[in-house]
Amino acid sequence: MTASGSMLGSSAKAVACAMGALVIGSSVGLAAGDTTAGQQVFATHCSVCHATEPGVNKIGPSLAGVFGRKSGFETGFDYSPALKAAAITWDEQTLDQFIKNPGDDVHGTKMFVSLPSSGDRQNVIAYLKTVTP
Ligand code: HEC
Repeated sequence: MTASGSMLGSSAKAVACAMGALVIGSSVGLAAGDTTAGQQVFATHCSVCHATEPGVNKIGPSLAGVFGRKSGFETGFDYSPALKAAAITWDEQTLDQFIKNPGDDVHGTKMFVSLPSSGDRQNVIAYLKTVTP
């Protein structure tokens, strides 16, 4: 009786654990980032200047495949010397820092739009991870 009771307890815990892992796994990497919300943020805050199709440069460079890439590497886009020289590898942390305040992060960058809400940044970064070329 006692033995089966505790076995039930531990298997219920294992199920809860597996569900927790599933929830984290479904948000494409960043624990708190939501790709659907991120797509909305992108549409309202970034898409004026950035496309997510490869090779489509607007006021800003295409952001297709930007995650994991070095700064200033989209072919055919005329970057500021500052961003090229910065040679940042774009990951969760570097993107967060840049989008929070581009001019502060990279002095002389041509991007002057910032995203002050950290939740918005996490979501948009989660979304950027999904826009691979
Ligand atoms: C007003 C236009 C404008 C808006 C809006 C804008 N950007 Fe930019 N972005 C730029 C420009 C211009 C550059 C190139 C900067 C340079 O060369 O210094 C850039 C560069 C970048 C880069 C570096 C790309 C690379 O290839 O190294 C990232 C990442 C980026 N923007 C993300 C975003 C995100 C995310 C948003 C929305 C929150 C956003 N941008 C909104 C104009 C904009």
